[in-house]
Parts: sequence; structure tokens; C-alpha cells
Amino acid sequence: MTKQIETEKPNAGNGGEENTDPRCVPIKLEAALPVGDEIAYPYYTYEEHQSWQIMFERQMELLVGRACEEYLKGLEVLQFPHGRIPPLNILSRLLNEVTGWKVARSPGLLDEKDFFTCLANRIFPCTDYIRCREEIDYTPAPDMFHDIFGHTPMITDPAFAEFYQKIGQAALNAEGEDRIRLQRIYWFTVEFGLIQSSEGLRIYGNGIVSSYNEVQHSLTDAVEKRPFDAAKIAEQDFDIWHLQPLLYVIESFEQLQEGFYDWAASRGLMPETDK
Ligand SMILES: [Fe+2]
Repeated sequence: MTKQIETEKPNAGNGGEENTDPRCVPIKLEAALPVGDEIAYPYYTYEEHQSWQIMFERQMELLVGRACEEYLKGLEVLQFPHGRIPPLNILSRLLNEVTGWKVARSPGLLDEKDFFTCLANRIFPCTDYIRCREEIDYTPAPDMFHDIFGHTPMITDPAFAEFYQKIGQAALNAEGEDRIRLQRIYWFTVEFGLIQSSEGLRIYGNGIVSSYNEVQHSLTDAVEKRPFDAAKIAEQDFDIWHLQPLLYVIESFEQLQEGFYDWAASRGLMPETDK
């Protein structure tokens, strides 16, 4: 099976033995990232805008009836243009209006501490370059299609946005094995989470919604689904290189937020007053 998934490699944790792509080497920041209106819109070629359009249109065809309501609402809020790569400064403004989050322009895969520091401060580090045409079905490296199309719509949801910040806060307090446990939780929720809605099983994981193959695979019977349990997920290994055989299902984003908080507090990663 080919390598068909997309993920934030800083949080990929185990399974990184095949990861030799220099674009997947984490960058340690030496200066603050530009945030919001500080981000200039770069020059993109016609082909790059076209790559966005191809990926955007084919994911949109797949997502209705598969993606959760909160993600689809996020798409409405953010109003991504079909045929043009969205500017990060506008995206940042729109996110800030709904959940107080901002976007920073990231040069690539960030060092774990830099990445989680951003999340803890309600800043989403986002690349502004797009994968080449040959990698349209899969890229091992971070790119803006995954970051923008995959991640930012869910950050418009208040409960998810709160949970995402808490992951960053907990990660900054985590040492040793707890860092691995947090990577697993990040993987099975932020990147590959499912939710049981009144209309059926739906996707909220950013790694699924931005992947042509995972979005078609994740809801099928080929995937084992288990109920969300942060303590159990924290001990569950995963494989970043293949379509996922196991996913966890939340009942609501409030359950996700509270379940994560309780687990993180039980590990001493979160002050009680933060709840
Ligand atoms: Fe990601």
C-alpha cells in the first residue's frame, strides 16, 4: 500500500523510521513568526493556484455527507476561494472573529516546542506553499492544503478551538512518555478523529478531510471504530504511512474537550483552574 496520508509530522510520534525527506526535519525558530496582518501574500504560479483548485474541488465533492457539521460550517465561515490560494492574513482575521485564534506563517515543519507554544497561545502555524503537482495525492511534507483546508475550518468551532489550545498547553508541560502519549491523542483526534452525529458517523480529523484517499476509506467497514477514551488512546500506537485501520469516535466536541482535560489533569499536565 502506498503512503497515502497527511499529517503534522512534529506530532507523528512513532512510525517515523521512513521519514528521511528534508522537508520533514523540524525547524527550530530563531525569531517570531509573522502573525495575521504581518503576513504578506506570496507570488504563486498559475499552476500552484490550479493545484489548490483541483484539490479543493475534489475534496468538496466528497465531504458532504462525510464531514461533520462543525467542519462544514467552518468552511462557510472561512469562504475559501475555489480557484485561488487563500491569503493567510484574511484567514487569520476570520478565525480571530469567531474563536480568537490567529494564523502565523510557518516556514515548514516546526520544532515540537515551537509548534505547541503557538497552539497554547491560540495561534495556528500555517505553511503558505503548496505541494507540487506530482504530490497531489500525497505529500510527506507539510503544505498549505493540509494546513488551511484540513485544519482551519475546525478551529472556527468554539469547543474544538478550546480543546486545541489545551493540547498545546498540556504539551508544554509534558515530559518523557507523556509527550508520546500526547502525540497519540493528537493523532487520533485532531488528525484522524470521527464523531457520531445525529445524522450518522462523520469526520472531523484534519488528516482525513484533506486526504483524497482517507476521506473515502475512514467511514468504511474496513476501519475498526472505538469509542473515544483519552486514557486508552494515549497508549495506542499508530502507523503514519498507511491508511488507518483504527479510529476513535467522539460523541461531541464537549466530550472531547472535557475527556482530554481530565486525562491531562490526571497526568499533572494542566492546572485545575483551567477547566
Ligand atoms: Fe495536520
